[in-house]
Amino acid sequence: MSIDCRTRRHIDRRELGRDEVFDRWLPDAVRDNGPLAARGLRYKQLPPLSLVVEDRTVSLRDDGDTLTLSDGPLDDGAIARLDAPSLSDLVQDWTTTMGLAMNSRVKMTQGGFNDWVGWEPVFRALFDGRPVHEAGAISFQAADGSDLDLTRSFELDDDPEEVGHFLEEAGFLHVRNVFSDAEMAAVSTDLDAALERARADDGASWWAGDSTGKQHPVRVLFFHEQSEALMSLLMDERIQWLSRLTGDDLSGKKMGAEGLIKPLDIQTGLSDLPWHKDCGQGGHSYLCNGLTIGISVTGADRTSGALGVVPGSHRANVQTAGKDESLDMAARKLETATGDLTVHCSDTLHRAHRPVERTRKVVYTGFRQALLPGDAVQQVPLAKQRADRARLTNVQDRIASAGADAGESEFVALEDETR
Ligand SMILES: [Fe+2]
Repeated sequence: MSIDCRTRRHIDRRELGRDEVFDRWLPDAVRDNGPLAARGLRYKQLPPLSLVVEDRTVSLRDDGDTLTLSDGPLDDGAIARLDAPSLSDLVQDWTTTMGLAMNSRVKMTQGGFNDWVGWEPVFRALFDGRPVHEAGAISFQAADGSDLDLTRSFELDDDPEEVGHFLEEAGFLHVRNVFSDAEMAAVSTDLDAALERARADDGASWWAGDSTGKQHPVRVLFFHEQSEALMSLLMDERIQWLSRLTGDDLSGKKMGAEGLIKPLDIQTGLSDLPWHKDCGQGGHSYLCNGLTIGISVTGADRTSGALGVVPGSHRANVQTAGKDESLDMAARKLETATGDLTVHCSDTLHRAHRPVERTRKVVYTGFRQALLPGDAVQQVPLAKQRADRARLTNVQDRIASAGADAGESEFVALEDETR
């Protein structure tokens, strides 16, 4: 049993020059995976794409059998302008089309933002040999070969083999009755205090606006540092067992946590996140699957909003932000009670439904895969990691600068645990 689908090591990643990508990486990828990528492009009915890097342009189009690579722009395609480091990151899956847009690293000069984001699974087919998802490709089986009941939830005393199998197949879990009301009340009190202390420029919180324009703190980054009650729960066996569930070594990350409140009537900012994958900014082939764990500090239901998941989407190569129209599996809403856990794989498509009658609180934490043998990561200073995380609060403005109009702003994404 495993949810580890990594195919790359950090240590092998390097900065590629533009011409190295255009003259070697792209031709090699077209030779190896051109037919697979072309099939995905046809399935998704996307236009050809031109990549402009400084004074050179190459184009990719479907010739009916495989992808064709040519010099110069095409009249009938989408055109994306990016710099050489961005191209290097894209072809090595260190960033995605969405990740580039979120960081103002790409500009659409022809065609739509949807075309650019839609090309993401085609790029993964081209560079990673991962087939683009087609309707009907994914089924769900219980360990005994019968159909898996996707409405199922679990408790701590359920058979770990069965729980692990469900996670591997479905990409998510709902575990009931994990923490007591008293334990959640203590965390809730600490979260209220942390929200009270939060300031818009503190570099440790995300903010969102309501219909009157008032800004609210909606997420306390590094919340575990402000709550002893939470810290003891993070180390508790009632969470730690999840790191051993699939047989993978999910000890690759120190436990940290973010505390969220979901106020009513939020209109701007990152509060009720739309459909996304946590690897949606990039790094899937280096990191997936990790696990994100939501602790229901208050219950989540149809009036207070809840986590939505698309079962099986962690096995589907689809666009990583927004709900891909080719994704045929039905979404589920995980309605929880106080003290329940939700668990999802980093490649599982999920969203936060809006609260309509009352607010809710949730804490997110998670596990990451231990490094592959021989791998090593370049240490990013903690201060930079924190600053990068905090600056996501105004990511909508940067996506708009990539060429997305207001109607496409639902692509805003990612409370990712992947960096
Ligand atoms: Fe997420």
